[in-house]
Amino acid sequence: MKIFIDTANVKEIEEASTWGIVDGVTTNPSLIAKEGKKLIDVIKKITSLIDGPISAEVSEGKANDMVNEAFKYARLHQNIVIKLPFTIEGLKACKILTSFKIKTNVTLVFSLPQAVLAAKAGATYVSPFLGRLDDLEKTDDSGYKLVKSIHEAFKEYGFTTQIISASIRHVKHVEQSILAGSDVATIPFKVLKDSYYHLLTEKGLQIFAEASKK
Ligand code: E4P
Repeated sequence: MKIFIDTANVKEIEEASTWGIVDGVTTNPSLIAKEGKKLIDVIKKITSLIDGPISAEVSEGKANDMVNEAFKYARLHQNIVIKLPFTIEGLKACKILTSFKIKTNVTLVFSLPQAVLAAKAGATYVSPFLGRLDDLEKTDDSGYKLVKSIHEAFKEYGFTTQIISASIRHVKHVEQSILAGSDVATIPFKVLKDSYYHLLTEKGLQIFAEASKK
């Protein structure tokens, strides 16, 4: 499973890139707004830090406007992936961008039919949201079940669209992404850092450190 970092914060990307496990980056309008910078400037900077897929989300609502906006971002770097909302207009734009061989990430996916429609529109990636779905359903495995069903359906029907587990809130979601057969998990910086931690690893380190002093 590939690991993307779900942030627009340059410092976080810089630090995580030194860990040697980050394959790509996803951003969204909320993450860009948090940085208080222009999307184009943030994306340009990220391309200099990570050599892998970098998702930049369109803000337009009509397919043709989305396509024009997408061309602007795609021109910045070959690694740019255009993030499109799951709407009829978004999928129309997806189909057009796919015909131009521009990579796409269809976001805000909450059901298996949505994932299959995005795949049929030629999406390179589809992003089911684990955290937001669990919140809505008040469960801790609705997102997991969704990703698992998308994985099985894509395998069964031969879709090559890759699944990005998104809206990851904690390490359990990372575990669920792995178990559900996700191709990618896009993980916020804090959760990525938390994924390194286990109480027994810490205790084991202490025990070995004490032993090595003897
Ligand atoms: C990533 O592609 C998504 O935009 C992001 O994971 C959404 O996360 P949130 O539900 O925590 O906003």
